[in-house]
Amino acid sequence: MVRIEPWGEGDLELLRAGNAAEMTQHLGGPEIAEKVLARHHRYVALNEGDTGRMFRIVASADGASVGSVGYWDHEWNGATVAEVGWMVLRPFQGRGIAVAAMRLLIDVVRAKGRYKRIHAFPNVENAASNAVCRRLGFTQLGEVDFEYPQGNPIRSRDWCLDLAQAPTPPPLIDS
Ligand SMILES: CC(C)(COP(=O)(O)OP(=O)(O)OC[C@H]1O[C@@H](n2cnc3c(N)ncnc32)[C@H](O)[C@@H]1OP(=O)(O)O)[C@@H](O)C(=O)NCCC(=O)NCCS
Repeated sequence: MVRIEPWGEGDLELLRAGNAAEMTQHLGGPEIAEKVLARHHRYVALNEGDTGRMFRIVASADGASVGSVGYWDHEWNGATVAEVGWMVLRPFQGRGIAVAAMRLLIDVVRAKGRYKRIHAFPNVENAASNAVCRRLGFTQLGEVDFEYPQGNPIRSRDWCLDLAQAPTPPPLIDS
């Protein structure tokens, strides 16, 4: 059972664990320790304001963190949209955790009532992240020049979920 918990002061280690070469190959590579710490502080601050939320993903009864999902304000084509991002630590990948956690995040964004659209901008070469968008029912709008993290230019796919559409259906349960 996957759940998401608000990012807090104690979650720096999760960010450090996600800062590995194989986790950041489509994101400009690992960040230096100071940048990871600054990112952690940004996540904590985001949860104290009104312009986004970061969460850690929990996928077992012991409460251990296996990844993160979050959303934040992004100005895009003249509107404020919710940009979303995600990561799942290597040992836990390939089990549907990213999609399950993102379904929960989409419910949070929808309930917030602040946005008409959610966008994701995965690197065109990030097959797993593009598959996550497709699985969640996002529509692919095309390729765009993007920057992630700040200062790192990438070629991205612009994926959009219109929140006026019906909520995403629950995952199918194997019989
Ligand atoms: C992207 C990421 C979060 C996916 O996490 P995950 O929990 O393994 O994803 P899921 O198990 O929910 O799988 C979702 C889809 O991705 C596909 N997928 C997973 N890994 C894949 C890979 N290496 N190549 C191609 N497709 C892949 C799955 O098959 C599934 O698609 P399907 O349902 O159509 O079969 C994970 O690979 C990751 O953290 N990567 C590094 C960080 C990153 O790139 N973050 C995103 C920045 S935009």
